[in-house]
Amino acid sequence: MPNILFVCLGNICRSPTAQVVFEDLLATRNLDADVWVDSAGTADYHIGEPPCPLMLQVARRRGLEMAHLRARQIRPSDFERFDYIFAMDRVNLQDLLRLAPPEHHPKIHLFLAYAPDLGMDVPDPYYGGEKQAERVLDIIEEGAMALLTQLLRTEICP
Ligand code: 4NP
Repeated sequence: MPNILFVCLGNICRSPTAQVVFEDLLATRNLDADVWVDSAGTADYHIGEPPCPLMLQVARRRGLEMAHLRARQIRPSDFERFDYIFAMDRVNLQDLLRLAPPEHHPKIHLFLAYAPDLGMDVPDPYYGGEKQAERVLDIIEEGAMALLTQLLRTEICP
């Protein structure tokens, strides 16, 4: 069973949200004991901080709790440890490909690669308001579902 890492810039908005949404999807299918899920940021701006208040509030309204999470920066060992690394946007993808040793490049993908109707990037909600945060959560929920469907088809076989 794979270990999965979600990566954005600050690890306070998009990637922690993807982490809890994906963990929730796994739990409803009794797959949560089989798959390790984590998130990280490419930048060091917010290390040790909880998720941004707006995403926290919007996620909580949908029954998703992420107040326990703390931001961390991606580290070299993550490229060894994780089987799949999903970038929340194309800048994050380029940063990851720059940081990762070439032999680990095949495990790095765009989060929305399996939901082409949603575009390529999960928009950054950091400077947006509540409406933007709701939209980001909609995109992440749909993208996570598409991703899980793909993984169940190709990798996770319960
Ligand atoms: P995230 O959002 O990458 O989804 O966690 C951001 C968080 C912080 C900043 C930008 C985006 N920032 O510039 O500090």
